[in-house]
Amino acid sequence: MCGIVGILGLTAAVPRLMDSLKRLEYRGYDSAGVATVSNVELGRRRAPGKLSALADVLAATPLEGNSGIGHTRWATHGEPTINNAHPHMTDRVAIVHNGIIENFKALKDELTATGVSFEGDTDTEVVAQLMTSYLNDGSSPRDAFSQTLSRLQGAFALCVLIKGEDNLMFGAREGSPLVVGLGDGENYLGSDAMALAGLSNQLIYLEEGDWVELTRNQFQIYRADNSPVDRDVSFSQVAATMIDKGNHRHFMQKEIYEQPTVVAQALGRYLDPINGCVKLPDISFDLAAVPKITLVACGTSFYAAQVARYWIEQIARVPVDVDIASEFRYRDPVYTDGGLAIFISQSGETMDTLSALRHAKAAGQHIASIVNVLGSTMARESDLVMPIHAGPEVGVASTKAFTCQLAVLAAFTVQLASANGAINETQVANYVAELEHAPALMAKILSADAQIEAIAQDIAGARDILFVGRGIYYPIAMEGALKLKEISYIHAEGYAAGELKHGPIALIDDNVPVIGIAPKGVLSEKTVSNLQEIMARKGKVVLFSDDETPPAGMYAHVSMPSAGDLISPILYALPVQLLAYYAAVEKGTDVDMPRNLAKSVTVE
Ligand code: M6R
Repeated sequence: MCGIVGILGLTAAVPRLMDSLKRLEYRGYDSAGVATVSNVELGRRRAPGKLSALADVLAATPLEGNSGIGHTRWATHGEPTINNAHPHMTDRVAIVHNGIIENFKALKDELTATGVSFEGDTDTEVVAQLMTSYLNDGSSPRDAFSQTLSRLQGAFALCVLIKGEDNLMFGAREGSPLVVGLGDGENYLGSDAMALAGLSNQLIYLEEGDWVELTRNQFQIYRADNSPVDRDVSFSQVAATMIDKGNHRHFMQKEIYEQPTVVAQALGRYLDPINGCVKLPDISFDLAAVPKITLVACGTSFYAAQVARYWIEQIARVPVDVDIASEFRYRDPVYTDGGLAIFISQSGETMDTLSALRHAKAAGQHIASIVNVLGSTMARESDLVMPIHAGPEVGVASTKAFTCQLAVLAAFTVQLASANGAINETQVANYVAELEHAPALMAKILSADAQIEAIAQDIAGARDILFVGRGIYYPIAMEGALKLKEISYIHAEGYAAGELKHGPIALIDDNVPVIGIAPKGVLSEKTVSNLQEIMARKGKVVLFSDDETPPAGMYAHVSMPSAGDLISPILYALPVQLLAYYAAVEKGTDVDMPRNLAKSVTVE
């Protein structure tokens, strides 16, 4: 949830740390801070709130030094005050941390009993004090760090600077990601490839339990048992320039409008339009023999999983379970021998989803992941990785990752159905052709966004908004509600349209707009009847549909292009994203960094 970066450089560290923190701010923005070693002394600047507040502090009180660490915080333990902001520092070390130290209370009590006092309430400060106590007892920096690690329980990525050591840094990974970046006479640490974009594209992803000692010219990685280990170097394709709003007002807006391009890009990796077939990455198990599929994810990725359940069951005729990752392992799921568990995650680091993946893996399921971040932990722990190729998604509200996840899941479904014989070659070719058509239709929808903007401006004053859909459009309704609530702070719920009469219709009056998602098809008449029931109770209905003759009395009808059943859910994701975006703009909220949230949720 927090973003961390460390630089052992040849030039001033602070401007580079701030640059990196800008790219990491999506991971948390409750407070930010940097620390450097300069003339053997440790120096630190911190500020609650966004990075701009830290920039103001640094402008007023600059910090020198070529070696430094930086942090952007999503608060877990302790309010977002200056005392709880990282780096946490003693007279010997400065530390930044992402994750949660679960046994921090016991450690804090132990240190307090020896006379140590604490300035804040965070679990991280305990790590700084613990390492200091080992240094004070005479341990070398390396020993003090490994002794400290041996005492910690929980999830953490750590980066440590030591007083008097301008050419030394330590990092560790247990449960939270940490990457080593290799430079020319410089070395770096960061939460992810984004942190190090612009610094290094030669990355080493630490494995669980690894820790690392770095100087400018050397590094050594150790396993948890302190034995040295070599890890592969991979090449990052994330460039600093990719993380740029361009001419757009917000990253979310840019990412919404990028969708035709990135979905085309994603489909380009999975479809062979000339031969009318799908090409998946190499699979180490027999797809045709998979008896059951389990889909697990959180938030928007969970709604992608819900859409995919309809596709997989209807087209490939394979039974599917869909679970919210944070609930999955606690319900002690019954696995089917030879089953395939697919984990969907933009970041590939979401702790709930990663824990679910490990649970399924331990149970012997085939493991696949659908991720945007290629070097992510989920990708590295999967038998089959299906990247979504959406490019960096910075807005906290997921948009292009959702439609790219759907595009990949649709291609996967067609391949699965082809492999198990549920559909023939002609049907495969027809589905491929349909998918190929999606980007053009998406572009058409986006070019007619003015009407949605006007509707959003009209309904932005509502306290509650409902989204309804049936069948495969029910998860799109839930996704619309999630998008709206997370960035506009308007209370919203997504319901299966037929469920309204079982309770939620009691909420309807002329102040509650209802967004109906009802493309023409077998269920559209039923959905429209449910919308009539809402209108009969003075509800304000906005209909997204390709039906050009909707019932009279609607507050608004947004005309959608007609499309096949496979790509239609992908298309209907766009108007609900636009509605949320423009409602948030109308309300003046912080669209890209909505309150209380972070992009990458690496705590349980
Ligand atoms: O990185 P992941 O896809 O695993 O993230 C899952 C959710 O945290 C994420 O989709 C979240 O719900 C978004 N803020 C929704 O816009």
